[in-house]
Amino acid sequence: MRRLLGIMLMCIGVSAFAQPPAGKFTDAQCIACHGAESAEVHGWRLSKHGVLVRISTPGRAPGCVGCHTATAHQPADAARMDQTCGHCHSPRYIATLRANGARMIEVGNMKQREALTLLTRARGEFPAAALADMEAHYASLQKHLRNLRLGVAHQSPDYQWWHGHPALDGDLLRLKGTYDDLLRGRTAKSKQ
Ligand code: HEC
Ligand code: HEC
Ligand code: HEC
Repeated sequence: MRRLLGIMLMCIGVSAFAQPPAGKFTDAQCIACHGAESAEVHGWRLSKHGVLVRISTPGRAPGCVGCHTATAHQPADAARMDQTCGHCHSPRYIATLRANGARMIEVGNMKQREALTLLTRARGEFPAAALADMEAHYASLQKHLRNLRLGVAHQSPDYQWWHGHPALDGDLLRLKGTYDDLLRGRTAKSKQ
């Protein structure tokens, strides 16, 4: 029943409110239900693992089940993940990736904090109707922060970079630009 509910919710595109279904799944099922264009699947497909699963011998690189296990929807266990990577990579390599990934996400979180500080200030200074653009840039920033987190999780350079940090920088710049426009508009009005 929960699985059916999951499928129904995914189909009508309200995944943000959907519950992860219980049960065992294959890679093909994970991909079909999450969607080929979802950040999690698209990012993995662009990663070296995703490419190798398509073009190399089966089992050489991990698909969804290889890392998340078939019973994907249970609490993540970081220690188990290190063990998983350790089947194919050295502990030192994994530790380096983990440290780099944590730094990359911390920089992303800093950008989010800066954006939220500015947005909070604007919310105190302007009516909600004037803030639609700023709110939209902030929503976009949160989406790109998730891309970044997934890019780090899935070792996907495209999602760490093109769909991650540069996209976040763009959101932050646009948010600042919109705020400056609001301030300029107010100054112009007060001079009239
Ligand atoms: C029948 C649909 C369906 C299938 C099949 C499915 N998922 Fe999900 N999954 C969901 C839904 C719905 C959510 C919750 C909403 C969201 O995060 O998009 C979710 C959430 C997740 C999460 C977020 C963490 C969590 O547990 O809340 C991970 C990780 C995940 N799925 C991985 C997988 C993997 C790996 C597979 C295959 C082994 C898989 N899923 C198969 C529907 C599905
Ligand atoms: C190389 C290992 C690996 C592979 C392959 C992999 N994942 Fe992940 N995935 C992770 C790790 C590590 C995380 C971050 C920690 C966590 O949430 O489990 C993650 C996170 C996620 C999340 C986000 C959970 C959140 O907090 O938002 C989803 C959804 C997800 N994976 C789905 C998938 C799907 C679907 C596939 C197959 C297309 C897949 N993953 C393949 C390792 C992997
Ligand atoms: C089933 C074996 C397997 C597992 C499990 C696995 N990998 Fe891989 N991984 C590979 C193979 C094979 C390559 C390609 C190596 C090459 O460049 O020749 C690769 C490549 C990579 C690369 C890209 C390296 C580069 O030079 O571009 C990264 C990063 C990576 N893996 C990280 C991880 C992490 C982190 C985990 C655990 C979450 C993991 N891998 C789990 C087999 C695996």
